[in-house]
Amino acid sequence: MSPFDVSQVDSAESSALEQINAAASVDALRESENEMVGKRSPFATLQKTLGSLGPEERKEAGALLQASRQRVAEARESRLVELSQSERAQQLEVDRMDLADVVSSRASAPLRAGHSGLVASTQRQLEDVFVGMGFTVADGPEVETDWYNFEALNIPPAHPARGMWDTFYLDVGEPETVLLRTHTSPTQIHLMENAVAAGTLPIHAVMPGRCFRRDTPDARHLAVFHQIEGLVVDRGISFADLAGVIETFTRAYFGPDIDSRLRPAFFPFTEPSAEFEITCTICRGEGCRTCSLSGWVELGGCGMLDPAVFEAVGIDSEQWSGFAFGFGIDRCAQMRHAVSDMRALSENDLRFIRQFS
Ligand code: PHE
Repeated sequence: MSPFDVSQVDSAESSALEQINAAASVDALRESENEMVGKRSPFATLQKTLGSLGPEERKEAGALLQASRQRVAEARESRLVELSQSERAQQLEVDRMDLADVVSSRASAPLRAGHSGLVASTQRQLEDVFVGMGFTVADGPEVETDWYNFEALNIPPAHPARGMWDTFYLDVGEPETVLLRTHTSPTQIHLMENAVAAGTLPIHAVMPGRCFRRDTPDARHLAVFHQIEGLVVDRGISFADLAGVIETFTRAYFGPDIDSRLRPAFFPFTEPSAEFEITCTICRGEGCRTCSLSGWVELGGCGMLDPAVFEAVGIDSEQWSGFAFGFGIDRCAQMRHAVSDMRALSENDLRFIRQFS
């Protein structure tokens, strides 16, 4: 057994203190416990050499050794506290959730109240104009049979005019042909049939709604679009009444600066028929891409009800006469707000939509 050496106690203590100070984490410090102060430490080795001393010296050296070991244990303990506090502080920093930030980000971006789209609000404004002129507002189905969409409107199967209204057919497994309506005109038929059945003629009504055509969308067309149909059935109605209603509507909705014109046209369910056009509001009549350089934009068709239609619904055309019109609601919105490309109406771009809140 090697003799007890006091200087080894000092060096064991200073090297242990050095290691304690150098320890980088609680885990590292815990792992080295045995080597520093425990069974495998220099202190344990020195302890064993105490036996080489006489009883007096052994007592003194033992106390010395114990005190030194005690100092190392205390230093280690306080270093443990220090390390665990800083580790905890670091963890808290990582886990930190700044509620003030959350609250203020909510406060700076409050929920916006939505508003009607341009087409919906245009529809309501158009209804208002016609209600102001004494019309009622009616509704009709978007899915129709061939009879309502075509035949009752004097468009028999294979009639060339059907080419104007190519559409989407529904396979419902019925013998009857069912389709998405290509215009709001079939609502005329429903209204007249109902009025005949209920004995409530005359009719002065507008019928807004969605229509569908197998069209390729462009600056003036959408495959899903909206029309507002007008129908007057009364006694002694003339083309002058139709022209007067359209003129009044144009002034009320577009204002006095917009010119309108009726151009002779053909529709199987009206005779005579006309196309209703206004000055293109994008170019003010100069000619542009939107109006295909014509300076005019067609808003819809109109005309005096054809006796063949009266016959289809059982109205006596000797007693009753009337007119009908069908205007594109999307076109009206487009011209009123000078939207150069109609596709903007259905693209859901908030930068566009928010301009019409
Ligand atoms: N329904 C026709 C269309 O969509 C327009 C129209 C309505 C024409 C009423 C005359 C009378 O083209």
